[in-house]
Amino acid sequence: MKFLNAIILVLILVVSLLACRQEDTGGKSNQPVKMSSLVQKEAWGKLADGSPVDRYTLTNKHGLVAQITNYGGIVVSLMTPDRNGKLGDVVLGYETLDEYVKDNPYFGCIVGRFGNRIANGQFEMDGKTYKLAKNDGENHLHGGLKGFDKVVWEAIPDTSKGEASLNLTYVSPDMEEGYPGNLEVRVVYTLTHNNELKITYFATPDKKTHVNLTHHSYFNLTGNAQRDILDHVLSITSNGFLPVDASLIPMGTLTSLNGSPFDFRKPKRIGLDINAEHEQLKIGHGYDHCWLLSSIKTGNMKNPAATVYEPISGRFMEVYTTDPGIQFYSGNFLDGKYKGKGGVVYQDRWGFCLETQHFPDTPNRSQNEWPSTVVMPGSHYSSTTIYKFAVK
Ligand code: GLA
Repeated sequence: MKFLNAIILVLILVVSLLACRQEDTGGKSNQPVKMSSLVQKEAWGKLADGSPVDRYTLTNKHGLVAQITNYGGIVVSLMTPDRNGKLGDVVLGYETLDEYVKDNPYFGCIVGRFGNRIANGQFEMDGKTYKLAKNDGENHLHGGLKGFDKVVWEAIPDTSKGEASLNLTYVSPDMEEGYPGNLEVRVVYTLTHNNELKITYFATPDKKTHVNLTHHSYFNLTGNAQRDILDHVLSITSNGFLPVDASLIPMGTLTSLNGSPFDFRKPKRIGLDINAEHEQLKIGHGYDHCWLLSSIKTGNMKNPAATVYEPISGRFMEVYTTDPGIQFYSGNFLDGKYKGKGGVVYQDRWGFCLETQHFPDTPNRSQNEWPSTVVMPGSHYSSTTIYKFAVK
């Protein structure tokens, strides 16, 4: 009898504890709010000016989880299974908002208005010179001092199509960071049931301007960044890359890949040639170059633009894009400066980026040299990139 009473008491305790937890979840703003079974929202902190920032947790039916904040549209974590079904985080980053605000080497963010570099921080359009912020020596990099990676986006989750999406919008004012025209930007992240992180970008200006949006996750497919990325096996579906000058601005000439360290047409370990004697590798301290995708003319997404395989975990990632180019950056400037999630210190080459985009410095090239990045008032910029996860 005593035993039965004890069991009943324990049961009552457990039930009341659970009830309290549920009340908390709905009631307090800093507790996760379940918006549907696919998306949760939680308050994630405030910026110095008091702007509140949230973090959204997107899931799919296979258990993949993407956490995205509306500060910079940063993908804070992305959990995918290894070949034993064990989830691991495949992107570098921090645990707190404050760390992202303090010093972020573009971990996981949306990059804009113009991803990559613009030489001497300026371009000419219709006889007028537009001076941009110079934040990379003499050059303009990734949209300037306060690019789209450092602004608070308005976020609206959407599960109406049965998948978790996060709609992020931002209106970039005329002359922000030196660019002409107000620009309405919308970026939609979707974690699909095909195990894809799909990113669609839309932008509409009210004056003629340049737009080149990209995403800057540093991937490490070992899961929770266990070691460097040199044993990851990479392929890029490309016929050439753009060699750069000492300040990483393309010199304009397309260089064929044949047998060079830049030839990833057949899958190859990233580390195989990264320290080879090659002037371009010295300049970039490794790979930090734009490859011209084979789909450049069609912009179709039938074949992957790049694939990456991590042999120990078995994780396999494919990248599909409508963009003409891809910047492969082998994390050459991480340098042990950043203490990331789980206290892991990211050393050089502990993460790689595959930034789908138009070619660097396009605003300073003649219209027919490279695909244009001009967007006219009233017309729309749009592009799509998919990072798709599997195991082998
Ligand atoms: C890009 C650039 C790199 C570097 C990183 C950020 O990918 O191409 O040179 O600036 O961003 O550290």
